[in-house]
Amino acid sequence: MIKICFVCLGNICRSPMAEFIFQFMLEKNNLQDKIFVASKATSTEEVGNPIYFRAVEVLKSHQIPYKDRQATVLLRKDYDTFDYIIGMDSSNIFHINRICGDDSENKVFKLLSFCNSNNDIEDPWYTGNFNKVYEQIYEGCSALLKFLKNEYKL
Ligand code: 4NP
Repeated sequence: MIKICFVCLGNICRSPMAEFIFQFMLEKNNLQDKIFVASKATSTEEVGNPIYFRAVEVLKSHQIPYKDRQATVLLRKDYDTFDYIIGMDSSNIFHINRICGDDSENKVFKLLSFCNSNNDIEDPWYTGNFNKVYEQIYEGCSALLKFLKNEYKL
């Protein structure tokens, strides 16, 4: 099983959106038994809170299934559990490395790097533009899936 963890600041907007969008793509490709996906926060600010309603609205508008969940924080041991720890922006990458150490196994990536871009998924908590974030995450997840299919011959 390939294990993927999406990470953002609060784990109530971007990383759960990525989790559900990617899970949807896995099921469409019949890869849900080969790839496991989760999401976590770098901050404890929102721990225990549900996915933000504006993130739910945009998932619903694109017919992406989602389930009730509570925000959890990334821990040092997650570095051993997961094969890919994928942040949404450069600040996430900084905090993932702070929590997990020096990424000696090259597991830490920024999502849009799979699209050969150094861009961040901007934080919708501040921009309010959940549609743009959805499009960016969708693009990143599509590229990630293509990468994994190629890497593991799936
Ligand atoms: P997320 O968005 O990192 O995409 O889940 C945020 C959610 C909450 C906060 C910041 C960003 N906050 O400061 O509480």
